[in-house]
Amino acid sequence: MIVESPLELIFHDLFYRLRNFSEGHDVFLKLEGFNVSGSIKMKTAIGLIEDLEQRGIAKPRETVIVESSSGNLGIALSMVCAIKGYRFICVTDPNVNRANVRGMELYGAEVIIVKDCDTAGGYLTARFRAIDDILASEANAVWLNQYNNIANKNVHARKTAVEIAREFDKIDWMFVGAGTTGTLAGICEGLRLKFPKVNIVAVEPVGSVTFGGKPGKRHIPGIGTSERPPLADLTNPDRVIAVTEKATVDCCLSFVHDYNLLVGGSTGAVLSAIKQLSPEFRTGDTIVAISPDLGDKYLDTIYSKDWVDSVISTEEKVLSDS
Ligand SMILES: Cc1ncc(COP(=O)(O)O)c(C=O)c1O
Repeated sequence: MIVESPLELIFHDLFYRLRNFSEGHDVFLKLEGFNVSGSIKMKTAIGLIEDLEQRGIAKPRETVIVESSSGNLGIALSMVCAIKGYRFICVTDPNVNRANVRGMELYGAEVIIVKDCDTAGGYLTARFRAIDDILASEANAVWLNQYNNIANKNVHARKTAVEIAREFDKIDWMFVGAGTTGTLAGICEGLRLKFPKVNIVAVEPVGSVTFGGKPGKRHIPGIGTSERPPLADLTNPDRVIAVTEKATVDCCLSFVHDYNLLVGGSTGAVLSAIKQLSPEFRTGDTIVAISPDLGDKYLDTIYSKDWVDSVISTEEKVLSDS
């Protein structure tokens, strides 16, 4: 295989069959962590930039791309912008992984880390304030706004959902983690075209407000919000499952032991949700789930006993006490 650009290093049809994952049921895990830049967000990044170009809004070497990201979209956009010739400014928060920041900077991005926590326990308010400041001071700046950009949904409806639909004759259950909800909204739209009866399960962490949960502090990047994203209005999941961070970490650890793959935190949450719902699965059901990234970049957090003991266990206690 010879490629002309790193942008060609994207997997469309990679599914890990998890034999006997829960109560005798196999699960097909769509692996997105092998895409270049390490996550499903490579597809989102390409979709968002191509959308701007197609609408005549962005021009290489003129436009400054601005986005808020906890890391995965940031690193994907850094790479896409470097390849296409855009200056890129990424606004993020203290939950970001250090290696992601270093990677973004190596691709030439400018990274701004906000510090102020908002009342819901997240950093969205501070991120939005930082973006407003950039848009006011940079004449050619364009904010992608992944939380409210229909191109974020469209790329997953046209690509991710189609990739899944192509692989299976029927799907009974589809599990998707929810951050911006772009993946979820795209899957809801795209997958129901072929499988109108599929049960789509949205997975979010306890403490996320997207689907009406009580706000709370969260530490696992990628899924959950402290403000409901407008894109969530375009989702219509059949079920919403909220997973504790403790259950998420436990699932990541048992998965590396039982299935020999280090997966990211949002994958752990999705796997935990599958276990919660497995009493409802019928014999012969086809169960599919998305794994947005791998676990290597979380070795010092999700996979570190010290980090888990100091951050997650305490929070679990606080959550259950309140
Ligand atoms: C690791 C990981 N999982 C899940 C998601 C959620 O995807 P979406 O923003 O499409 O809801 C993200 C988004 O950044 C992510 O980085």
